[in-house]
Amino acid sequence: MGIVDVRFEHHHHPLGIGEAAPRVSWQVSAGTPGWFQTAYEIRALHPDGTVAWTSGRIDDDESHLVAWPGPPLASRQRAAVQVRAWGTAGDTGWSAAYPVEAGLLRPEDWTADLIEPGWDPEPESVPAFRRAFTVRGPVRRARLYATAHGVYELWLGGVPFGDLVLAPGWTSYHHRLRYQTYDVTDALHSGDNAIGALVAEGWYRGRLGFGGGRRDIWGDRTGLLVQLEIEYTDGTSETVRTDAAWRCAPSGIHASIYDGQTQDARADHPGWAAAGFDDSTWHLVRAGALDASPLVAPDGPPVRRTGEVQPVGIHTSPSGRTIVDFGQNLVGRLRIRPRGAAGTEIVLRHAEVLEDGELCVRPLRICKAEDRFILRGTGDVEEWEPAFTFHGFRYAEVQGWPGELRPEDVTAVVCHSDMRRTGWFSCSEPLLDRLHENVVWSMRGNFLDVPTDCPQRDERLGWTGDLQVFAPTAAYLYDCAGVLASWLRDLQADQLSTPDRIPPLVVPDILGWPHAMAAWGDAVTIAPWVLYERYGDLELLRRQYEGMTAWVDHVAKLAGPDLVWDRQLQLGDWLDPTAPPAAPADSRTDGSLVATAYFARSARIVSTVAGLLGRADDARRYGELADSVREAFGREFVTPSGRVASDSQTAYALALRFDLLPGAPQRERAGARLTELVHMRGYRIGTGFVGTPLLADALDDLGQTQVAYRLLLETGCPSFLYPITMGATTTWERWDSMLPDGSVNPGEMTSFNHYALGAIADWLHRTVAGLAPAAPGYRRLLIRPRPGGGLTRAEARHETPYGMAAAGWSIADGELTVRVVVPPNTTAVLEPPGGEPMPLAAGEHTVTLPYQPEPYPPVRPPHTIPPEAPS
Ligand code: BGC
Repeated sequence: MGIVDVRFEHHHHPLGIGEAAPRVSWQVSAGTPGWFQTAYEIRALHPDGTVAWTSGRIDDDESHLVAWPGPPLASRQRAAVQVRAWGTAGDTGWSAAYPVEAGLLRPEDWTADLIEPGWDPEPESVPAFRRAFTVRGPVRRARLYATAHGVYELWLGGVPFGDLVLAPGWTSYHHRLRYQTYDVTDALHSGDNAIGALVAEGWYRGRLGFGGGRRDIWGDRTGLLVQLEIEYTDGTSETVRTDAAWRCAPSGIHASIYDGQTQDARADHPGWAAAGFDDSTWHLVRAGALDASPLVAPDGPPVRRTGEVQPVGIHTSPSGRTIVDFGQNLVGRLRIRPRGAAGTEIVLRHAEVLEDGELCVRPLRICKAEDRFILRGTGDVEEWEPAFTFHGFRYAEVQGWPGELRPEDVTAVVCHSDMRRTGWFSCSEPLLDRLHENVVWSMRGNFLDVPTDCPQRDERLGWTGDLQVFAPTAAYLYDCAGVLASWLRDLQADQLSTPDRIPPLVVPDILGWPHAMAAWGDAVTIAPWVLYERYGDLELLRRQYEGMTAWVDHVAKLAGPDLVWDRQLQLGDWLDPTAPPAAPADSRTDGSLVATAYFARSARIVSTVAGLLGRADDARRYGELADSVREAFGREFVTPSGRVASDSQTAYALALRFDLLPGAPQRERAGARLTELVHMRGYRIGTGFVGTPLLADALDDLGQTQVAYRLLLETGCPSFLYPITMGATTTWERWDSMLPDGSVNPGEMTSFNHYALGAIADWLHRTVAGLAPAAPGYRRLLIRPRPGGGLTRAEARHETPYGMAAAGWSIADGELTVRVVVPPNTTAVLEPPGGEPMPLAAGEHTVTLPYQPEPYPPVRPPHTIPPEAPS
């Protein structure tokens, strides 16, 4: 057994980390069953292998996010870190050396100027910047630090450098502008060199937002900041930085995130980023000092190209257009390989669905999603992929292709934050497997640097409510600790800079309408709490605490003395199936009931967090507030016999799951009523964004697990599986984004790639397969499989911070066999259906029990609507 996967903060191989004392985590490769750590030692090595410092033996069992035990790193300082651990049965020996290198930690480390085009570029045009320089001799190490006002593509030696997409990514730029650190040692050579960058408007100043949106949100000029630091083998060093010596010219590219990219290859400057290019006709740049205080190193991985998908078909539409089908709704762009005459213009249009055999672009609203490439006519294949845009699409219409379009001429390139996949699920029901796969694809499509609502229309915004409901699922499927830590910093920065410290509805905030909205604003408390449960990062709670309390305090003010929050417009149980196409907030559940329920939930979370952070007074005060809101909820929305106002699936699910019912008689009645409602609707889903993550859990808590399965396995519209029967390959925004007759829902909110309703996947992981955290960061696992629905097997695997965990079961011959993998340095408790809890130690376990399936389908009361009736 040994130590593997040493991490720093939430990074796997950090180059340019932003923390001088990054917390260290490691895993122990599976070895002796029951292994538990008793002590560890961390040391750093000099480049010659001698020991720079050591922590000495630390008697502690934690192996995740432990404090950096050495002297803080200085800017640019590199350490090679080794870890060893002692355990209950055997020691690990020293790990391999894992490098960590600090970025530029202080604003004073930046000496580069921000450079901007020396003329007024027309909207959406992409300037090219360049600079030639000389490398004096052999290079020991070279680092390039870069960022932009806009999005940049870096070029070195005449070709694009690195594999980042849309760097520096999207943050709340006035508060936090990320820079990237590149190891360019091998890209330099003695003698003449050149560096270049293309900078598009991106999110910084391109059009963003629905209803026509706004331009120039953070600034009205694109700009570039580069600092290339070269250390020679002779010990001398030199810095090439953006300054007045750079030159600039229009690149011939026009680009917009929403509308797409146009590139006329005839306007390219061949060799523009190579040494020896004559830039004497290029413009001067404007150079000026940049306030470096908002510059930050990334918390998570960058956006990259993470996959490629080939066409499954090419056909001619009824109107005679060429349409390529990739068989999967995805997010990214096309790479094409045309060969043709100079001036040939190829147009690529994108859409998620077809209607009447043609691209259906109406759901994109004010968003062209169209790329154009004009051939130079070299006689060779001119491979092209737009660099400064992305689209959400399954279908592409290709116009103007020279000759016949063949499947090998076009590839869909999938782009998103390059997070490590950590979660898997499968079972004996193929429709559920596809449901899960769709959830994974919608997460991929909507974690493009910022967790967004949708990836295709004129939004693609970090809507807080969407993330709030999806966070548990996200944290299981991918290691999104870094991406979400970054987003939460922006959330807090934007929130605390509004007068009433109200969380913005979207982060980064482009709307500037501070409006307190339950379930959306509650992302401030709930998302950090979910990340704490899943990744065990207490520092994140400490960092976000001010925003959490500010939110709950503000809601308390809005609610007033009766603590019922009923005086504002609410989005409520957004997009429940009864909401008309044109009124997505007009749901069955009263918005003030949703708001008061969330008020209680957030107050309770803040109280718990205050306790963890050692703030006893706050813990008591927010705990009392949560109790009082709970009473207020009971007074206002619950009848003495336990009927809850609105009488909807969501109202009962909220009251039960948030523990808002006054006593046992009301809980019992509310539970019975919820079950009855689900039966009565014939297992059609009745919830929107708010109720969907809660409903199956609420039924399971009531012992109505088979009713939850029946709901889960329903295929009529609206239901979880209805979209699958209509060919969905991602999670839809609304239950019926496509109507049963194949037409597209006429509403404005008709995305085919919204992760919110995919929140059900968390239930598949925790309850169907039975793998859940029982302590923060999965230090202790809860293995609680609840078979049902006629399934004969289910499995979940999750890479926890401590290593791979698994839970699965199969049923055969009247027996249930449960298989569990408990990672080293963790423990688990197995709660088998109908059996006594069993403690499990690290290692692999197989437990077989006699098993009598519960009746399925569940017995329905006689007065319910049969499932086949229309809703
Ligand atoms: C987004 C949603 C979002 C909602 C709230 C929509 O346009 O796509 O997912 O949460 O607005 O108003």
